[in-house]
Amino acid sequence: MKIQAPKGTFDILPYGAEPSWQTSSLWQRAEEEIRRLARNYGYLEIRTPLCESTELFDKGVGESSDIVMKEMFTFQDKGGRSLTLRPEGTAPVMRALVEHRLLERGGPHKLFYIGPMFRYERPQSGRYRQHHQFGIEAVGIAAPEQDVEVIDLFLELYRRMGLKECNVLLNSVGDAPSRIAYRNALIEFLTPHFSELSPDSQVRFSKNPLRILDSKDPKDKEILTGAPSILDHLSEEAAVHFSAVRKALDLLQIPYLVDPRIVRGLDYYNKTVFEIVSPQLGSTIGGGGRYDGLIKTFGGPDLPSVGAATGLERVLQVVSSEGKPELQGPLFHAIPLGEEAKAVLFHLVAECRRQNISAQVELSTEKLQTALRNATQTGASYCAILGSAELAKGVLQWKNLMTREAEEIPIDRFFSILKERGLV
Ligand code: HAM
Repeated sequence: MKIQAPKGTFDILPYGAEPSWQTSSLWQRAEEEIRRLARNYGYLEIRTPLCESTELFDKGVGESSDIVMKEMFTFQDKGGRSLTLRPEGTAPVMRALVEHRLLERGGPHKLFYIGPMFRYERPQSGRYRQHHQFGIEAVGIAAPEQDVEVIDLFLELYRRMGLKECNVLLNSVGDAPSRIAYRNALIEFLTPHFSELSPDSQVRFSKNPLRILDSKDPKDKEILTGAPSILDHLSEEAAVHFSAVRKALDLLQIPYLVDPRIVRGLDYYNKTVFEIVSPQLGSTIGGGGRYDGLIKTFGGPDLPSVGAATGLERVLQVVSSEGKPELQGPLFHAIPLGEEAKAVLFHLVAECRRQNISAQVELSTEKLQTALRNATQTGASYCAILGSAELAKGVLQWKNLMTREAEEIPIDRFFSILKERGLV
């Protein structure tokens, strides 16, 4: 039996990927764009382990969330410790900030991460058991403009990646006093419907009734159509924050829709929450919000924080639907015809690499046709052929693999000619 990648996971291939968004050059481009963008907005990179103590997510993400209830890859290590493959990045970043006492430096901390996350979900289009997130976390900033900076950063990323349309759905889940008031109103509304709720929602009814708003169950959704809105139960402080967020969005001319049903799938949020939806994909590509005080749960100070993350699979699915990804091979593929030519090209290519010019020598065949096919398959832009006739004249046959145009280039002027033509 052939061994395959685990269900819900996939390989990222240099070529031949099906679907084409699983091509590595697309991922590299996205990651380069992300790093540039993060620098533009003043975020620095943090990398945390792929697995953490299970307790971190129980405490951080919340016991009534789908993630903790059903989706974690949890296992015991040989020392009997319970570990979990990270399902998200926010709790690990908070843990790292506290563990390394970075907050003692004072001031705000603006961090970003790119990497795989693991959720045991039912695999379907756009849902994977290993997916990749780009996330940002801004810790120590209470200003509503910070919430808008986060939204603006993701919209700018989508714009740079060429996504045509992205809609921002905005809500506030209030602060603690707002949620106590809303929880009571929601319980009062849901009590007569308790027996009709899905089993999951019945559990949430006592644990965290707000979570019921996030239910995908059709019957739950029907019951919820008449539910009270959290926006009618915001404390004064939460209402002021929400209206300041809206004002700052208007200032940056970011269109948005207020949707009181957005509560997000994780328990740590308060005040602003948002999701960004791609109509091209027909689903959410990114989401986040404020999570003031989460860091206190991990033994840190009581700091305001806001952040968000986007799934790279979903972004690349939209990007790749617009065209075939390009192969990013070396500048040229050197093809020696004979032992003497091989020695010359082997040396020339080694010199190219020292000068930061990407090149490779054909070492797998002595047949010109096969070598030319290999050159095209690895995505080289040119090939340089050296046979006995060229050796005698001291030249290379230099062939553009796109246009098929060929010419002779003197070997002793090779580097200066590449420079003159702006190829290096
Ligand atoms: P999230 O909404 O659970 O938020 O995930 C962020 C994004 O990751 C989603 O919008 C989606 O694009 C992608 N995603 C999530 N699950 C999957 C999956 N199974 N397959 C493919 N893509 C997926 C968070 O994780 C929060 N930590 C975001 C955050 C950061 N909030 C504050 N700071």
